[in-house]
Amino acid sequence: MNRRRRIYEGKAKILYEGPEPGTLIAHFKDDATAFDGKKHEIIDGKGVLNNRISDYIFTNLNKIGIPTHFIKRLNMREQLIREVEVIPLEVVVRNVAAGSISKRLGIEEGTQLPRSIIEFYYKNDALGDPMVSEEHVTAFGWSNPQEMDDIMALAIRVNDFLSGLFLSVGIRLVDFKIECGRLWENDTMRIVIADEISPDSCRLWDIETDEKLDKDVFRHDLGNMLNAYQEVARRLGILNETQERSTSGPTLVK
Ligand code: TMP
Ligand code: ASP
Repeated sequence: MNRRRRIYEGKAKILYEGPEPGTLIAHFKDDATAFDGKKHEIIDGKGVLNNRISDYIFTNLNKIGIPTHFIKRLNMREQLIREVEVIPLEVVVRNVAAGSISKRLGIEEGTQLPRSIIEFYYKNDALGDPMVSEEHVTAFGWSNPQEMDDIMALAIRVNDFLSGLFLSVGIRLVDFKIECGRLWENDTMRIVIADEISPDSCRLWDIETDEKLDKDVFRHDLGNMLNAYQEVARRLGILNETQERSTSGPTLVK
């Protein structure tokens, strides 16, 4: 163990060389960061929860035919993934106003948006991940129009799936961020969902109380982040791994 070659270390994950060519192992760390890393803490157990929640979501995306880089979870902190060429964009889908859109456009947090809105941010920590338009993306060659069509179609499918999944457990999906990559199989390429989908990359509010069950708890010191993430896992029926792996799916919260 741990003689593996480290390929990349980010703020929340480490990528190692995988067991076969074209695979990698993603290791989920306990580091919580916000505001481009200016706020940083170690939250014991966060990596385990994000690994499990992201496993649950990606497994289900794969099952309904939304392609992802995910192969399988290996253990508490690691998952086996396909190596992809990551497109340097954070693709944000918003259903309800919160965070930067509320600030930028003066829309009160919690306002339902007239329709789901997709935004692109250029992944560059030094620049603070600036928002960009499709024009910037294609002009600078980060992606091309055909890929952008695929990315937007995938983003909407993920939004529909996640909105329904979370609604069924009493959670409103306010917004989320995905990253996409190019997966090469012989000479053909397709766009797949990469990175992770977890309470680090979503805004999740209790449907009744608007209680925040995501990284905003950490960003804005709203309470115990781990408890919030555990609550998401509990509602999805995946908190207690000693129980038989849930076949009944998520439990409806009344
Ligand atoms: P924003 O309102 O700060 O722009 O965030 C929109 C969504 O994207 C929210 O669910 C949090 C997520 N997000 C990330 O996952 N990583 C980031 O670096 C940022 C800024 C937001
Ligand atoms: N992920 C970014 C950071 O670590 C920003 C955020 O999620 O608020 O700084």
